[in-house]
Parts: sequence; structure tokens; C-alpha cells
Amino acid sequence: MAAPTTTTSPSTSTSPPLTALVFGASGITGHALLKTLLHHPAPTTFSRIIGLTNRPLSSSIAQLPASERLELYSGINLLEREASLRQLQLIPGIEGVTHVYYAAYGGHGSGFAELRRVNEEMLTNAVGGVEVCCPALRFVTLNTWGKVW
Ligand SMILES: NC(=O)c1ccc[n+]([C@@H]2O[C@H](COP(=O)([O-])OP(=O)(O)OC[C@H]3O[C@@H](n4cnc5c(N)ncnc54)[C@H](OP(=O)(O)O)[C@@H]3O)[C@@H](O)[C@H]2O)c1
Repeated sequence: MAAPTTTTSPSTSTSPPLTALVFGASGITGHALLKTLLHHPAPTTFSRIIGLTNRPLSSSIAQLPASERLELYSGINLLEREASLRQLQLIPGIEGVTHVYYAAYGGHGSGFAELRRVNEEMLTNAVGGVEVCCPALRFVTLNTWGKVW
């Protein structure tokens, strides 16, 4: 769960603060995104970067940079629509999310039909949750590798 620590000051820009939400924050792609968004496109672009996982993950175990802008929340199981929505709604300030990066991926080792079922369900529940919780949303990116669900 969230264990923010500080190294960088939030943006001092007069425009509304931007908040990034990363699904799959413990994965190869999501972990890299968390670190990248701290300084890209500029070190003050995002006032908050929220990483989501299903399994528990602490900043220290994840070896993430210490930053008060970076927060982790676990226990968001995207295969459970109602429960994942409830968990999203519990994240403080979730309504301020402007940018969503979807890098969750499930069903490793399954055949195509099961991979499709699992990942369709996860993506549908993630998008559905964001639609309910994030009225300030401006941008969503779906990271895939030539897959079609
Ligand atoms: N890896 C690459 O080199 C690469 C390159 C190009 C594109 N991509 C694409 O990027 C996407 C992510 O790939 P990846 O390699 O980063 O995947 P990954 O390392 O396997 O990470 C998957 C992420 O999804 C989360 N997840 C799995 N089941 C979940 C569930 N039921 N509810 C919520 N979260 C769940 C995992 O969280 P938990 O730890 O909580 O399970 C983990 O954070 C895929 O579409 C992949 O094809 C990957």
C-alpha cells in the first residue's frame, strides 16, 4: 500500500495538476512506467503517480525511487469487477486522475482463448472503474504487443 517518501517537489505550474494511474505497476512494463513518469516528459509533469497491483507490493520491495509523488496501492484484482471498483474508489484523490497507463496482463501460460478471456475481463473492468472514478480523465494508453482482445 501507499508508502510515499520525498525527493522532488510537486509542480508549481498554475495549470491543474496532472495525475497518472498505472495499472500493472509490478510488471515489467508498469514498473518502468512508474519510474519514467517521475521525470518524463518533465520532472514536474505529474504531481502524483499512482501504481496499482493485485498482489501486495511495497516501494522498497519494488525498488522504486523515493518520491512523495509516487504511491502504490495493491489488492485491486481486475478479475473482480465490483471489488476492484470498490478498491479504486478508496484511493484518496482518485477523481483527480488525468492520465491512465494500462500495463496489466494476466493468464500467463494459457492458450489463446483463456488469455483473451482473462485480459478482456481485466481491461473491461479497469476501463469501467476509471470511467466511474476519474471524471478528470484526459488520456488513456493501452500497452500491448500486437494483441487484439
Ligand atoms: N514485457 C515486455 O517486454 C513488453 C513489451 C511490449 C509490450 N508488452 C505488453 O505490455 C503488457 C504488460 O506486459 P508485462 O510484460 O509488463 O506484464 P507482466 O510483467 O506480467 O506484468 C503484469 C502486471 O499485471 C498485473 N496483474 C495480473 N493479473 C492481475 C489482476 N487480476 N488484477 C490486477 N492486476 C493484475 C500484475 O500485477 P500483480 O503483481 O499484482 O499480479 C503485473 O503488475 C502486455 O500486454 C505485454 O504484451 C510487454
